[in-house]
Amino acid sequence: MKRIGVLTSGGDAPGMNACLRAVVRTAKARGLEVWGIEKGYTGMLEDLIRPLEARDMANIIQRGGTVLKTGRCLEFLKPEYRAQAAEKLKAKNIDGVVCIGGDGSFRGAMALWREHQIPVVGAPGTIDNDLFGTDVTIGFDTAVNTALSAIDKIRDTADSHDRLFIVEVMGRNSGHIASYVGLACGAEEVFTPEINTTVDKAVDKILEAQKKGKKSSIIVTAEGQKPGRAYDLAEAIRKKTGIDAKVCILGHIQRGGSPTASDRIIASRMGSAAVDALIKGEHDVMIGIEKNDLRSVPFELATQRDKKTSLDFVKLSNLLAF
Ligand code: F6P
Repeated sequence: MKRIGVLTSGGDAPGMNACLRAVVRTAKARGLEVWGIEKGYTGMLEDLIRPLEARDMANIIQRGGTVLKTGRCLEFLKPEYRAQAAEKLKAKNIDGVVCIGGDGSFRGAMALWREHQIPVVGAPGTIDNDLFGTDVTIGFDTAVNTALSAIDKIRDTADSHDRLFIVEVMGRNSGHIASYVGLACGAEEVFTPEINTTVDKAVDKILEAQKKGKKSSIIVTAEGQKPGRAYDLAEAIRKKTGIDAKVCILGHIQRGGSPTASDRIIASRMGSAAVDALIKGEHDVMIGIEKNDLRSVPFELATQRDKKTSLDFVKLSNLLAF
């Protein structure tokens, strides 16, 4: 292996830059050339591929977003476009690729190996923490802390006005952010896509809490939760109780900002290990961290097995809220 490519792909996540820095500098230390592929798979298709040097990575470890840019490339779902992308890589003599991204990005990576024998090793970069085989993904800790500091502020105003707030956090199909944030902010109720909480149950709990003297409450809901998004939930509560619940959708604020120490550390470890795995001849694997140890996890497992939201966290936050 002489020359590798690196891309950031899918939704950006704080810590992607730290991971990129680790990839480039590890590769240089091992005597490899590194080429950066801009805008995810779109850049692979459009030939937005350029050499990267160790010094290009200066002062990015603390920055959110990704200096390589990223994208969600729908063309890459089609084999004919993947063939074009593979040609671009081969024309540049790129022998292997590190892909920093989430499940969709890894599915593209699997196809590159299956169809064109281009080895790809992944580093899990997504705030959703929804990849099997790793305790955490790059960006998750920062996103949780960003949501938490916003909810702490909402608590102040909720408390001053004796109000009920419904705060929607990200997590398209998963409740990892919601369950962590719910426990950490002392939420009165947590809705996630995987847990069967009903509006009726939530309403009963809020009313019971009011009887016990609780004046303000916070419900944390994942954007993919079952009974409907935050506004639907507020409307259902209003219809049942007359309570005018305020809604706050935190949205993309959770994707930005300077990564936490924890995200910078896992990003650095995973990025460096991804390069070493490529050198060893590995492909079709993601570098995960379990119980603080790095390990290679087949893409197929990482993307297809369900990583369950911690029910224990939701149970504990329910227990402690009343
Ligand atoms: O996968 C990360 C994520 O932030 C999800 O939590 C969210 O549903 C989605 O991306 C939003 O994607 P986009 O920024 O493309 O709208």
